[in-house]
Amino acid sequence: MIKIKTMAEINAMRDASKIVKDTLDLIESKIQVGMTTKELDTIAHDYIISVGGYPACLGYYGFPASTCISVEEMVVHGIPSDDVVIKDGQIVSVDITALYNGFHGDAARTFMVGNVSSEKRKLVEVTKECFFKGLDAVGIGAPIGNIGHAIQTHAESNGFSVVRDFVGHGIGVDMHEDPNIPNFGHKGTGIRLKEGMVICIEPMINMGTHKLDFLSDGWGVVTRDRLPSAHYENTVAITEDGVEVLTL
Ligand code: MF3
Ligand code: CO
Ligand code: CO
Repeated sequence: MIKIKTMAEINAMRDASKIVKDTLDLIESKIQVGMTTKELDTIAHDYIISVGGYPACLGYYGFPASTCISVEEMVVHGIPSDDVVIKDGQIVSVDITALYNGFHGDAARTFMVGNVSSEKRKLVEVTKECFFKGLDAVGIGAPIGNIGHAIQTHAESNGFSVVRDFVGHGIGVDMHEDPNIPNFGHKGTGIRLKEGMVICIEPMINMGTHKLDFLSDGWGVVTRDRLPSAHYENTVAITEDGVEVLTL
């Protein structure tokens, strides 16, 4: 069931989304070679709590940390750890969801740390571009398949592949609501977007195969060929005034 939001509810989501954006900006200012992903998680956790929010990943289906931090070939849902030290040239995806006044905001960025190869730099840039190609396909009455089609076309024309096993989603009182927002698909297919919908568009783009392996910790997801993967996500509201990205 798709839960349509009132303007007042979208305003509440703007506050949760602002917390997510500010937390990602804080992480971007702190991230450097030699830090552990657990240190970054603690910075995010403490910031979100300090502004009266809750880091919604913490305890979500038992997830044991406040953020998901996925290094290099890890696609999503990396558990921050004292044992994962960030090395020069790595790409680090940080995905943060905050709950504030009963509503969620959700966004992810892939940060490039130190001297990143031009190949990986391109992967990170194309993944961000994929989001904006998807965003261009958003509007009242637009079929959801147009979003995935735009993302897939841009990723594949740059020689990369699109993750199939995880998708974007509606968001609101729950972190994950209907509808699913795939990063692949065909123009003109799927349900049509309506005023009052709030969705997360989150391309996960791999340098090599789109196939994945699941780690034995029950959470981490890595590329099957262990080539790098990037992630870029924002919370997007469809209102009477148009399409608004809440986490930018
Ligand atoms: N923030 C993620 C998303 O983009 C979900 C986090 S999974 C969790 O949908 F278990 F860490 F909460
Ligand atoms: Co997310
Ligand atoms: Co999401």
